[in-house]
This record gives sequence, structure tokens and C-alpha cells, in this order.
Amino acid sequence: MANAAELTVDGKSYSFPTLEGSEHEKAFDISSLRDQTGYVTLDRGYKNTGATKSAITFLNGEEGILRYRGYSIEDLAAKASFLEVAYLLIYGELPTQEQFSEFENAIRRHTLVNEGMRKMLEGFPINAHPMSVLASLVSGMSAFYPDSYEGTTDTSDRDIIRLMAKLPTIATWSYKRSQGHPINYPQNNLDYIQNFLHMMFALPVEDYTVDPVIAEALNILLILHADHEQNCSTSTVRLVGSSQANLYSSISAGISALWGPLHGGANQEVIEMLEEIKAGGGDVAKYVDMAKNAKTTGFRLFGFGHRVYKNFDPRAKIIKKAADDVLSKLGVNDPVLEIAKGLEEAALNDEYFISRKLYPNVDFYSGIIYRALGIPTNMFTVMFAIGRLPGWIAQWKEMRETKEPIGRPRQIYVGSELREFVPMENR
Ligand code: MLT
Repeated sequence: MANAAELTVDGKSYSFPTLEGSEHEKAFDISSLRDQTGYVTLDRGYKNTGATKSAITFLNGEEGILRYRGYSIEDLAAKASFLEVAYLLIYGELPTQEQFSEFENAIRRHTLVNEGMRKMLEGFPINAHPMSVLASLVSGMSAFYPDSYEGTTDTSDRDIIRLMAKLPTIATWSYKRSQGHPINYPQNNLDYIQNFLHMMFALPVEDYTVDPVIAEALNILLILHADHEQNCSTSTVRLVGSSQANLYSSISAGISALWGPLHGGANQEVIEMLEEIKAGGGDVAKYVDMAKNAKTTGFRLFGFGHRVYKNFDPRAKIIKKAADDVLSKLGVNDPVLEIAKGLEEAALNDEYFISRKLYPNVDFYSGIIYRALGIPTNMFTVMFAIGRLPGWIAQWKEMRETKEPIGRPRQIYVGSELREFVPMENR
């Protein structure tokens, strides 16, 4: 694009190049703005700021398009396995059979977690939220693998494989801890998803066999969560990693960012909101009205609308269908799920929600499906983290390989001007 953007300020004109992405997203390149003009930009919440160039995920919020490395999310969810998608995101291409076997076998061989981490786990209170445990133990991994930061700034596969292999183990341990149940060790004859389900649900007192309906649903859910370009947690991972912090520390920061109720924590909030409606008598219309008058009622609808999708979230469409399939296959009959359907119907047909583009998003349906699969509410955001891990890794790797400079935003200072120190006795 040969265009240049002209800016006139304080009577002077400046020219800035424009650029266009491979899917025609247009941008002004303002890298030299402050040097040239003395001005910076203000964009709270980064609604207009392209923080980086990335070749991983393409998202068009107006048209509801999501693609990983050029492949549509619809195709990947229907045809791929989660580990295939992880390989695609991290290494840029779909794996050949040989590449896939090597990747999968490497992950299988690294599922065991150092017993020292188990001792760390035992130090947490029983009621610790699994997300807090997960972030702490992932951060702790750099202490167990000092080769991740000692004299190296590389993006070696070693740490990538360790993280992919051990996160499900740690995640299920965080849950077992919250239940006061013994942890399960991984079984490397099982595949990635079966192994997770085994560690999550097996008990020493009875046999556990993985239900293929549950494994298939989980595969889809993890794929749908695997990356979402520069969202809050991914931006956090890239920002932390840009200081040359190791992969474990960067991912741990991403997990903490994900936990917030405005990000991945929304899936837990959705089910808690549905439980609140159930406890309040289950009158959906009443709560729809309360949501419309949120300023006075304080009632907030979680799981509706999205910062970048303007019409619908393509992941939500896929999950909604998967939820219907899974619920009928498993024969689940849960009053909370009926309330969810009522809420969805009201929101999709009510002018208030339509005009504000408040349609159910991925977090609305994922909570419903996790619940039907038997995943407890406090594990919903942990499931999101397991799904998002390959995306975080891919983005961290890209950031390091393209030698991105340390992230360091500017600010517009609005505090006091210079004032004289006043001794305490005179204040
Ligand atoms: C995500 O998948 O990360 C969420 O939808 C949030 C976002 O993209 O901003």
C-alpha cells in the first residue's frame, strides 16, 4: 500500500507510512510519531492499537471469522485433534504423520511432574482456587528447570514440550487438592485428552474409563480456545516474554491474566450467574429485565458480547452445536441448562440485546458444556488455560524469534506538578 497518512499538528505536517496485513487489515505505522512530533497516542484498553505483526491467528470481528495459520476454526474443530492444532500454532504448519508422532511421543514422555512440585501443592490451602495453584506451579517450573533461563534466550522445544506435557498433570492436581482427594499420576498409554480425563476423574476406589463422547467434546473445546490473537492473556505473555523472561514465567503471567472475570474467568461467572437465577426462582424474564436495568439492579449478564466480534463469535456457534449434541448423547437433564437456553433465547430476540450486539459468546456455552461433562465450576478457567497454552507458546515463540523489542508503553501523566516536600509535623 503506497498510501501515507498526513498529520498536521502545531502548524506542521508530518507523514507516516501505512501498511496492510495479508488479510487487508490497514494500519498507520506510527513508530516514529514521538520522535517526529513530540506527541504520543492515547488508546486506553488498546482498542485501536496493533501491538505487533503476527502470522498466527486471523480474526475478523465484523464478519465473525477466526483462522489459525490460515485454516478456518470450523474446519479445525471438525477435523483435527487438539495436539495437531497445537503443532500447527506453534510450528506454523500442520504436522506430517512423522512430525506428529514425534511431537506426541515427546509430550507423552514428559507428563510426569517433579515430586518437589507435589510438595509445593501440599502447601496450598484446600480451598485455594485451582487457577491460583496453576499459576504458582507453572511459575515454579522455572525453578525446577533452570536451563530455561540460565544463559539462554532461545525458544527451545524442550520447554515447549515440558509445558504442553505437564500442564494437564498440574491442572488436575490443583483440582484434586481442592477436593482433598489423592492426585493421579499420568498414564502414558493414554492420549493427551484421555490422560487428562483419567487424572481428573479417576479415584482409587473405583474403575474409570474415558467416555469417548466426553473426550470428543473436550477435543473441540480445547481447539476452540487454542488461540485468539492479541487478547489480554496473550498480550501479557508476549509483554512478559519481551523482557527475555523465561517461558514458564511468561505463561504463568498469562494464566493470571486469564483468571480475571472479564477474560477467561467469565466462564465460571456464567454458571454462577445461572445458579443465582435458579436460586431466585428461575424466572428468566425477570433477570433479563434486571440486566437491562443493570445501573439500578447491579445485575450483570456474563457471557454476552465480545470486544472484537460485532455480530457473533464463530466459536460460540460451534460450541452451541456441540453442547446440544453432547447434552443429548449424555442424556443430561440439568435445570441450570434450561435456564441458560431461556436466557439465550430472550437475548437473541430482545431488541435491547440485539441493538447492543449482546449475543452469547464462547464463555456462555463453554461453561454449559463443561458442566455437562462433569467438570466442576472452579475448573472452567483452568480448562480455558489448557486450551490456550499452545496459542500462548506460539505467540511467545514468534515474539522471541522476530526479536520484538521490550514492551514499554508511554503514558499521559495527569498527576501533580512539581511541589515542595512538606515535613510530617507541618502536614
Ligand atoms: C479470548 O478467547 O481470549 C477471549 O474471547 C477474549 C478476547 O479475545 O479478547
